[in-house]
Amino acid sequence: MDYSEKVMDHFANPRNCRKIEDADGVGTVGNPTCGDLMTIYIKVDDDKITDISFQTFGCGAAIATSSMITEIAVGKTIEEALNITRNDVADELDGLPPIKMHCSNLAADGLKAAIEDYQKKNQ
Ligand code: FES
Repeated sequence: MDYSEKVMDHFANPRNCRKIEDADGVGTVGNPTCGDLMTIYIKVDDDKITDISFQTFGCGAAIATSSMITEIAVGKTIEEALNITRNDVADELDGLPPIKMHCSNLAADGLKAAIEDYQKKNQ
């Protein structure tokens, strides 16, 4: 299977792989087929994501997509972050093998779940 250099880099050196203890929003999503799990933590200030991190129990592509989505989303407004698609994550990684595209779903869905959690708490 061919992985891009970016995928290999984010897998080998994941960015923002940690828990944010006082997160404003937390989202956990899982893939029922493979059993992989991903949790995304966000800190929000003035409607902007000021910090974001992840913890992923999953395949290399899931780790790379989690790492990449933290880089894409930091500094974005909530609305901009909600518009990040599964394909955006894969594109930023210079693509994923077709059989691994579902792994990027986890990252985009995890971010959305963290934002929904934040919005619920701040209604
Ligand atoms: Fe489960 Fe990649 S194989 S997320």
